[in-house]
Amino acid sequence: MGDIVEMLDITKDFPGIRANDRVSVRVRKGSIHALLGENGAGKSTLMSILFGLYQPDSGRILVRGREVNISDPNVANALGIGMVHQHFKLVHNFTVTENIILGLEPRRGLVLDTAKAAARVAELSKLYGLDVDPNAKIEDISVSMQQRVEILKMLYRNAEILIFDEPTAVLTPQEIHELMAIMRRLTAEGKTILLITHKLKEIKAVADTCTVLRRGKLVGTVPVADASEAGLAQMMVGREVNFSVSKTKAQAGAVKLSIRDLCVRNAKGLLGVKHLSLDVRAGEIVGLCGIDGNGQSELIQAITGLVPVESGTILVGDRDISKLPVKARLDAGLGHIPEDRHRFGLVLDFRLDENMVFHRFQSRPFSRYGILNPVEISRYADRLISEFDVRSGEGVATPARSMSGGNQQKAIVAREIDRSPAVFVIAQPTRGLDVGAIEYIHQRIVEERDKGKAILLCSLELDEIMDVSDRIAVIYGGEIVGVVNADETEENELGLLMSGSLRKAE
Ligand SMILES: Nc1ncnc2c1ncn2[C@@H]1O[C@H](COP(=O)(O)OP(=O)(O)O)[C@@H](O)[C@H]1O
Ligand SMILES: [Mg+2]
Repeated sequence: MGDIVEMLDITKDFPGIRANDRVSVRVRKGSIHALLGENGAGKSTLMSILFGLYQPDSGRILVRGREVNISDPNVANALGIGMVHQHFKLVHNFTVTENIILGLEPRRGLVLDTAKAAARVAELSKLYGLDVDPNAKIEDISVSMQQRVEILKMLYRNAEILIFDEPTAVLTPQEIHELMAIMRRLTAEGKTILLITHKLKEIKAVADTCTVLRRGKLVGTVPVADASEAGLAQMMVGREVNFSVSKTKAQAGAVKLSIRDLCVRNAKGLLGVKHLSLDVRAGEIVGLCGIDGNGQSELIQAITGLVPVESGTILVGDRDISKLPVKARLDAGLGHIPEDRHRFGLVLDFRLDENMVFHRFQSRPFSRYGILNPVEISRYADRLISEFDVRSGEGVATPARSMSGGNQQKAIVAREIDRSPAVFVIAQPTRGLDVGAIEYIHQRIVEERDKGKAILLCSLELDEIMDVSDRIAVIYGGEIVGVVNADETEENELGLLMSGSLRKAE
């Protein structure tokens, strides 16, 4: 079979970075072609070029053997290329059908016939097994259904080349399986799929071919049947990767963090956390797992003092910290790696060393009698940045703003681990980090556990939760719907808990 898309020697520069460096990809018609690479490898850029959102600085694109100039997404649409973005672009108070026909010009002299459009949507939905109700309002349907609406939007426009940018990031394991089945039906009907992902399992499960990018460059293209997960990981990272977090069985001691009957209001004023109780013991890692938006942010922010508690208690040791200001909670033995490192983790206008002593600059040796000691501060920061391999252009004097996200995150992790709190609340510790840094941070978290720290780990990455935790608490609709031992559960059970279809007492 011929190649439906050929991207040849594509180069794209952004200020200060070559996002794509002479990358070539050839995609066979009717295949599922994965694009694999770490954060920032240039995957989205390459696909945005194919979809006409960016123009390449050099290189050629052939679609169905003909050279094309995809100057904007309308040209891409006309060529039969569609894209489902990481963040959906749907109007929430419109129906499915209204969203799908939005932006399509009614033919001259005809009014757009919504009923006819709805019938076509229903037909497409049936053909590909999408199970979407054409008349449902977007605000009333799940994220996974919204994604299917985006798929229908492409199909309605007769797209034949479908680009998915990290489509499984927002889905439960069950929904991921369903999406894969949908992808297979799409290719069975002759569609071609380009799938961006950094998840090796998904590639093994569904893709025919995989192209690997690293730092903007093409590493290679391989048939998936011949590639192992370890082999793909090595191509992605450039060295051998140790997947499994090495740890011994937890030696859990006394309860160090105890949350009792906690209620917290969310930004809409509703109860985002409802009568939630959870214990974390010394020497164990409890993973908090759930689909984004089920109360985990409110819970973490309530524990760390970023939002007020409506009712209930939060004990660190035997002290109720639920009404204390942030600083007093830290002094009571709480450590926090925040999910939003910009809002709560670093002061971007401060230097790296200033950020490293952020909670402690008022105490010795960093200051005496109210006078800062810059030598001690830099010496301390120097030690941490070399120990945690934080890379910054100008060493400790680098402004936090000019560091990459991964290095900002490492700096926060270094600072919080070094404070050595008894209770550690860690949210999304590896988001945006490369595999090497992830390995390192996971190992450090386990080391903290082995020193007897009580750790609550909140992550949207199910693999991270399963690999690092000793026990897993699943949150759904602001409640803990199950607590399971990490070595006695599997993805399927967690997925059922996460979607609210199963409840399991401890
Ligand atoms: N619009 C943009 N402006 C400037 N830099 C960008 C832009 N889009 C992406 N980049 C940079 O280009 C590189 C590749 O990014 P991207 O294609 O998004 O990677 P991936 O999708 O593989 O994570 C990154 O360093 C990113 O910061
Ligand atoms: Mg991307």
